[in-house]
Amino acid sequence: METVTVNASASYPVHIGGGLLEKAGELIAGVTKSRTCAVITDTTVERLYAAPVCRSLQDAGFRVYLHAFPAGEQNKRLGTFGGMLEFLAENRLTRSDFVVALGGGVTGDMAGFAAAAYQRGVGYIQIPTTFLAASDSSVGGKTAIDLSAGKNLAGAFHQPKMVICDTDTFKTLPEDAFADGVAETLKHGLIADADFYRFLMTGDVHSQIDGVVRRNVEIKAAVVGEDEREHGRRRLLNFGHTLGHAIEKCSGYTVTHGHAVATGMVLATRAAERLGYSPAGTLEAVTAACRRFRLPTACPYTAPELYAAATGDKKRDGGSIDVVALEEIGRAKTVRLDMEGLRAFTEAAL
Ligand code: NAD
Ligand code: GLY
Repeated sequence: METVTVNASASYPVHIGGGLLEKAGELIAGVTKSRTCAVITDTTVERLYAAPVCRSLQDAGFRVYLHAFPAGEQNKRLGTFGGMLEFLAENRLTRSDFVVALGGGVTGDMAGFAAAAYQRGVGYIQIPTTFLAASDSSVGGKTAIDLSAGKNLAGAFHQPKMVICDTDTFKTLPEDAFADGVAETLKHGLIADADFYRFLMTGDVHSQIDGVVRRNVEIKAAVVGEDEREHGRRRLLNFGHTLGHAIEKCSGYTVTHGHAVATGMVLATRAAERLGYSPAGTLEAVTAACRRFRLPTACPYTAPELYAAATGDKKRDGGSIDVVALEEIGRAKTVRLDMEGLRAFTEAAL
């Protein structure tokens, strides 16, 4: 097991390795005095992994309540979130009890938000079971649900007490779901670590999965440690996300987050190159990376469709929005655009 420590408003460990689900109870017992928890998961992950996690918690002396919601981004919404809060209340969880978010980013974001809201905040543990959640969403404390107007529009910053990433769980991930995690991994290399990008372009991600997750977590932890609430540097983690979120919304959330981010990175880089924010050759490097992992590089939507979806993005601040451009591979900057600038950026992206 390897451990990375996140030092934000709270410090917490991110444990990474194989076989960790069975050790979850023992690990969690070290960070809480409570002996009652609610495990929140989706129906797919419930079938695969709820039993070993609940057993491990029970063996460590915890009383466990299990709640499962239907899997998928389409269910990352108010009704599902409300169901989680009602479940916690019905089972009389108290302020000192805690939530265990077991699953992908949809579960982690929603269960984390439920933990932030229930009784004005209870503790929670992230147990990510997708490559994307392990490498990105389980770390950093952003929790959210989608609203009809757009993605992640209601949420809270709420740091977990611990993250337990059992990389053996990735063995049951469909190839496309694994590729979703590759997209955020490429993002980390492209914005922050050229050597990591070069490894991803030549090395074998599967055989070195623990090290790859660890590097992702180190990169994210460094950013979050400096700018937890996204006033500055954390915005760089949104590379590809303004247009990526627009693609997700235009598709009615049938295009997954990682796939949309891959296309969003290509589109943003095409616009950045054309408008002079990124040097020539950057688009080629981003496109080649996505192609290597069979991630999509073309967008089925028009510029007006993307622009309309992007103006609802939560990254908009009054009349302006920050987009991220690569200065070189491994280094990124934000570019502030007004709404006309965003329209021009979207047109240049296609
Ligand atoms: P997801 O949670 O929907 O999981 C993808 C699918 O895989 C689901 O159907 C799930 O049931 C299934 N699954 C999960 N683990 C499995 C396993 N081990 N084996 C087989 N199937 C498994 O999606 P995701 O890609 O994990 O996360 C995407 C979400 O994360 C988006 O909502 C996105 O907005 C969010 N996100 C949040 C942050 C953050 O910082 N909070 C960062 C990036 C992404
Ligand atoms: N995924 C963007 C962030 O955590 O800030």
